[in-house]
Amino acid sequence: MNTLFHRGRRLRQSPQLRDLVRETAPLLAEDLVMPCFVVETATSRFRKEIPSMPGQFQLSPVELEKLVETVPRLAAVLLFGIPAGKDDRASGAYAENGIVQQAVRRLKARRPDLLVITDVCLCEYMSHGHCGVLSPDGRIQNDATLPLIAQTAVSHAQAGADMVAPSDMMDGRVAAIRGALDAEGFTQTPILSYAVKYASAFYGPFREAAHSAPSCGDRKSYQMDPGNAREALIEARADIAEGADALIVKPAGPYADILYRVRRAVDVPLCAYQVSGEYAMLRAAGLKGWIDEKSAMLESLLGLKRAGADMIITYCAEALLRQKLAR
Ligand code: PBG
Repeated sequence: MNTLFHRGRRLRQSPQLRDLVRETAPLLAEDLVMPCFVVETATSRFRKEIPSMPGQFQLSPVELEKLVETVPRLAAVLLFGIPAGKDDRASGAYAENGIVQQAVRRLKARRPDLLVITDVCLCEYMSHGHCGVLSPDGRIQNDATLPLIAQTAVSHAQAGADMVAPSDMMDGRVAAIRGALDAEGFTQTPILSYAVKYASAFYGPFREAAHSAPSCGDRKSYQMDPGNAREALIEARADIAEGADALIVKPAGPYADILYRVRRAVDVPLCAYQVSGEYAMLRAAGLKGWIDEKSAMLESLLGLKRAGADMIITYCAEALLRQKLAR
């Protein structure tokens, strides 16, 4: 009898068949970037759990070093700094001995093989918590911000960062950073640009973790409007034209359609950033016993690979590297 329906189950009968026909390769350790919060503190043993991100910690450089030593198959980290003091020029961001610069030197000295990526932004270092310089009337001064961002990237490279990741969303910052890096001889330092970054409620836990919530207003004049998709392609192409080597789409899960569209529009490597709020939701449901947390984490990341991500920044990295990833 010739049936009139499709027998999709034929190829799902055994693990061997399923493995044979799977379209998206399973997640690999080398696809993952682990974000870390490093704190400028006199207490060398400082380690404080972030309440809205269970399992994630603010760490002193010494504790950060201990952490990276213990995570198996850890390939890459993304560093965020929490400085001891803030001002209205974000001077801690580009201080030669700033907290990120200290942490980079320490990690690269102990673990030269670990890829150390730095988040380049001013918000954690600004007294007002915005990602750019503010004028007296409270507006962001885009072009006056660019030299500070560029100087921050150069100081990270001087400390030994393998790659810089600007997240401020000022126009022209990739060109400013590329120019400054090249002028200082860092022609080989790649720029992983947060090209497509939406003004998202999913950053809430991060701002608690990094003490970087804006004290007035919001980030909607520089981060993208969640209703826009075509604009993502404009941003992606602009950053490539300015010299970005690879691009980030952020947040990840709620913007998987954007990831997919950007993947089809450009050819550079793409990174999905599964942000703090996405992690918080997975953990909260897991802690309540409402989902199989590790499986849900893996599935959420596989979805991002399927949508087109080559690599993923995720707070789930540590847990998965410790328990679930075969290699
Ligand atoms: C700094 C920055 C933010 C995130 C990454 N870099 C916060 C923001 O833009 O407010 C968010 C990361 C996360 O939520 O995990 N500008």
